[in-house]
Amino acid sequence: MYYNKKDYYYKRAKREHYLSRAAYKLLEMNKRYHIIRRGMKVLDVGCAPGGWSQVALNAVGRKGLVVGFDIEKVELNAPNFRFVQGDLFQDETWNSAFEIAKGPFQVILSDAAPKTTGIAFKDVSRSLEMCSEVIRRASKHLVHGGWCVLKVFEGEGFAEFKKELKEVFLKVKIYKPIASRTMSRETYLILQGFTGRDDGA
Ligand SMILES: C[S@@+](CC[C@H](N)C(=O)[O-])C[C@H]1O[C@@H](n2cnc3c(N)ncnc32)[C@H](O)[C@@H]1O
Repeated sequence: MYYNKKDYYYKRAKREHYLSRAAYKLLEMNKRYHIIRRGMKVLDVGCAPGGWSQVALNAVGRKGLVVGFDIEKVELNAPNFRFVQGDLFQDETWNSAFEIAKGPFQVILSDAAPKTTGIAFKDVSRSLEMCSEVIRRASKHLVHGGWCVLKVFEGEGFAEFKKELKEVFLKVKIYKPIASRTMSRETYLILQGFTGRDDGA
């Protein structure tokens, strides 16, 4: 089942010109929750090879903007897509994205994931560190009422992290897309209604 599914989305992505099979996860989440709409400014954290950015670009349309960053390069050219090569733990990466967008984003997506070691507690704690960093940065980079989608590995520390999120988002939902690998620890947090801006705006 796992390998069949992997193969199915891989082939479909090739056929439909998506840069990753992961694109189908965001398509599914966006269809269900209507996260990304026309004209929005979207930040895609850990965007390589670019499948989520393609989905976001289609959803924001010609008047929207998608800024993606990743430590790896991205081969995606579109008039309203900008790429920053950088690390999510570095100020410069976030500052560049902010300058390009001339302000905060309506949606922050993060499919960023550590290279897995196979040692569950290490992988889970690194994934939680990445998610916490995105949420810490949201206080400047996400608008009041904004949405955030985070990939996270479930395990020790996940329940506490979820509790913290409830203090800065009105709604916190967990969603595992059908396109996600059944056996993996990965799941997604759909966060709606950001209330944690530094300036309280
Ligand atoms: C699962 S892939 C993202 C796939 C992407 N959503 C797509 O549809 O093409 C995870 C990405 O996170 C990136 N990543 C890992 N650590 C990072 C970091 N510290 N800063 C920025 N990106 C990072 C990896 O380079 C990788 O490209």
